[in-house]
Amino acid sequence: MNHRLAAPVGITATGQCFPPKVVTNDDLAQILDTNDEWIRSRTGIRERRWVEPGTGASQLGAPALQQALDARGLKASELDLLVVTTVTPDTLFPATACRIQERVGASNAFGFDLNAACSGFLFALTTAASMVAAGAARKAAVVGVDIMSTIINKEDRATAVLFGDGAGAVILEQVDPGYGILDFEHRIDGSGGEFLFMPAGGSLKPATAETVANKEHTIHQAGSEVFKNAVREMADNSRLLLDRNGLKGEDLALFVPHQANIRIMDAAAKRLELDPARMMVNIDRYANTTTATIPTALHQAREQGRLAKGDLVILSAFGAGFTWGSTLLRWAC
Ligand code: UT7
Repeated sequence: MNHRLAAPVGITATGQCFPPKVVTNDDLAQILDTNDEWIRSRTGIRERRWVEPGTGASQLGAPALQQALDARGLKASELDLLVVTTVTPDTLFPATACRIQERVGASNAFGFDLNAACSGFLFALTTAASMVAAGAARKAAVVGVDIMSTIINKEDRATAVLFGDGAGAVILEQVDPGYGILDFEHRIDGSGGEFLFMPAGGSLKPATAETVANKEHTIHQAGSEVFKNAVREMADNSRLLLDRNGLKGEDLALFVPHQANIRIMDAAAKRLELDPARMMVNIDRYANTTTATIPTALHQAREQGRLAKGDLVILSAFGAGFTWGSTLLRWAC
């Protein structure tokens, strides 16, 4: 079954925001037993951005959204719906969507946060687009924002080098028939939960002095387990979208994978028989920004002139949960 929306809905503008502070691999080699060669060859990462302490997700999310609104010539008050996806909200509650809503002045919007880890942007895109297609909203925004520097264990070289901070935003509206989101395939599988998670800070294990001392409020990952599942699911899911829409890899103008590891991305692209030049890569400069990787990659692709109206694009992600999915679009602006 194709997953089609009730009406054509597409992305009509993009925005992004990164903090100015650049942290290079050499910077990390000064505080951890690691080196630039290992990080670059094993992950593709050269540098990442980290916020100054005290910076919340809404402080990156709001400027990213404002940039997208400006690009479309919209006032914030014209937004009906704001979906924010993050694993690093300003606070567990209220929702970061409320904080971003206030910062940009989206006075007529309703909204909420959605957590699907690295697949969050794709799941939020489908959720918001479905509401626009159904007429529950006319102009919607999706913001993917994460401040990963606040939840990494800076003494654990296996995870500390992988993540960065950033935000991306898109505007969604109904578009001409044949454009926008054409198909999607999303999945969750809780049996993978133990391979990538934060042990404490939720209702199961509230914060105590002991959980803080044990660094249980940081990312715990079984890297190789996540790696092999990510390659398989991102490739299989994207292949499924191609096959059921009668397309081949060469029909895609751009493949935009979640930026977790260049080796995962290359393996997925190879299995789709894609020209590597058609894969969007920004992991070298920004590392893994979790929910922000895909919207910032889309924004940069637009800036670099790599996306034009009518182009076929596949977005694909895999993350904690496990969660994964792919979305096929015909670019609408
Ligand atoms: O976005 C959410 C989804 N996340 C992902 O998709 C991440 C998926 N996993 C990965 O990207 C990779 O598994 C990692 C990049 C996390 C690790 O790469 P790997 O090739 O799987 O390495 P490994 O964990 O098997 O470690 C190989 C060696 C180990 O040393 P020994 O035991 O062989 O002596 C590690 O201790 O590399 C060592 N190592 C490091 N060395 C220098 C691990 N981290 C580092 C480091 N610097 N930062």
